[in-house]
This record gives sequence, C-alpha cells and structure tokens, in this order.
Amino acid sequence: MSNMLNVALPKGRLGEKVYSLFEQAGFPCPSIKENNRKLIFENPEAGVRYFWVKPSDVAIYVERGAADIGVAGKDILLEYRPQVYELLDLKLGKCRMAVAAPKDFRDDPARTLRVATKFSRIASDYYAALGRDIDIIHLNGSIEIAPILGLSDVIVDIVETGTTLKENNLDVRETIVPISARLIANHAAFKFKNESIEKILQQMAALTE
Ligand code: PRP
Repeated sequence: MSNMLNVALPKGRLGEKVYSLFEQAGFPCPSIKENNRKLIFENPEAGVRYFWVKPSDVAIYVERGAADIGVAGKDILLEYRPQVYELLDLKLGKCRMAVAAPKDFRDDPARTLRVATKFSRIASDYYAALGRDIDIIHLNGSIEIAPILGLSDVIVDIVETGTTLKENNLDVRETIVPISARLIANHAAFKFKNESIEKILQQMAALTE
C-alpha cells in the first residue's frame, strides 16, 4: 500500500461536487479539471490520487482496497452491502427509493405483486418486512417502461425530481428509504491511513453540516 491516499470518485452528475469537497478538505488535485477523458489524477504534494469510476462501482474498489476511500450512494450500500465503513452522510445527491405504479393500478393484496427493479435486495427486504408475496423482475435500466408494457405491476426505483415518473404516467405509492451520497472507507486503510482519513472526515463533516 502506498502512502498516497487513493480516492474513488463517482463519475457523472455528482462527481464534481464531491471532488470540490475533497479539495476544500485539503486534498486538491488541480489537473483533474483539465482533462475529461483521463480517469486517474494524482497530486503527490497533497498525497492524493483520484480515480473516476462508475458510481455503482465505487464500493467495489473500496471494499477490495483498490481505493482507500470513496463516495457511494446509500442505494448501492443497501443493495450490495459491501464490507466497508460508512463514515459520513455528505447530504449530496439526495433522492429516495420508492414504489411507483401506473395511475390506474389498484393493488389486490391477495395476489402476488410483480415488481420490476434494479434494486432486487432492497425491494425483497421491503416487501418481506410487510409480509407481502412478490415476484421480482430484475432489470438493468428503463425500469419505468415495465408496468406500461405489462411486464410488472409496480416498480421500485430512485426518484429525484419525479420527472421521469410523471413523463411515464406513474405515481409514487410508497417511499422506502431516503438516499444520499456517503463517504466510505476500506477497513484496512481506515487503520493504516487513519490520520489522513480522519482529517478528511472532520473537514467534510464541518463542510456538510
Ligand atoms: C434514476 C432513476 C430514474 C431517474 C429519476 O436514473 O432510475 O430513471 O433517475 O430521476 P427523476 O425523478 O429526477 O426523474 P439515473 O439517471 O440515476 O440512472 P440510470 O438510468 O442508470 O438508472
């Protein structure tokens, strides 16, 4: 393990805001803003190396120690339960996991509910707690289409502004859990690079209050 702190950042909408938190926490890497095709950036003076990875992959890098810390959505942590420390709620990327259905759908509790989702574990856990029998239809995207085409009765998906649901004539029926971005750390790195990780944690906690 090098002394450099390895940080997995979620590529995309949230990434720039997340990087700016690290910058303000004392780990700047100016070159990151100059090139949008490169995926690895380092600043040896500040002792930090950043990687841009797919948001849903951040927890894998951190769990396996390829990154010491990273930022992942609570949705991913609930769905895959990676063995990582969840250090802080960054209060960014706020949205919710919800059940949605076509406006005219009336649930019959006596029937098995067909649920389309990318988040099979979150959906299974939610309905198991309610004692409801369901049939999970695991999809990888465009979940909103499933009930329109009769593939499912409802969907379990992320709702941010609600625009996607509205455009597809779906309504939120229940909120399962609020979601936001979390600072996570690798177990071993948290021990061996504790000083720098603690510094980031304290600074970010102050910045996100
Ligand atoms: C999520 C989700 C919805 C959309 C909701 O997809 O699956 O499609 O955002 O946002 P809204 O309520 O603001 O319309 P995301 O863009 O995160 O990526 P995905 O297509 O990979 O699911």
